[in-house]
Amino acid sequence: MAFIDFTESELVNIKKIDNQHRKMVNIINKIHSRVTKKSSYNYIPDLRVLIDEIEIHFETEERYMKENLFPGYYSHKLEHDRFFNQMVNNFEKMKEDRSIDIGEQLISFKRWFYNHLDLSDKKCGTFLNSKGIL
Ligand SMILES: [Fe+2]
Ligand SMILES: [Fe+2]
Repeated sequence: MAFIDFTESELVNIKKIDNQHRKMVNIINKIHSRVTKKSSYNYIPDLRVLIDEIEIHFETEERYMKENLFPGYYSHKLEHDRFFNQMVNNFEKMKEDRSIDIGEQLISFKRWFYNHLDLSDKKCGTFLNSKGIL
């Protein structure tokens, strides 16, 4: 079983957003399985890739919301900004101090991902669908 399951119930029904979510989940699952298998694995480069994908993804969602005048834009963007800043801060700390437990970071990512997907991304997806965007 994968660390994060990406099934039908994780879809927001916007093709580009779903593909990006799937891509991020694949990266995090890869990091998780490498961390579990090999303690000497240097996760920093893969974590960098993940952060870049998250940045691209947040920009994509924010562009969709802005272009379509989504009423929840600001609070949704705030959730992105807070999470992203926290992620980058942790990443910087991990680069300096490799004794920081990546396992906790992975778990907090997983928690945030499901929570944000259910409470925010799905609302955004439903709104975009109503504007004819698939
Ligand atoms: Fe989002
Ligand atoms: Fe998202």
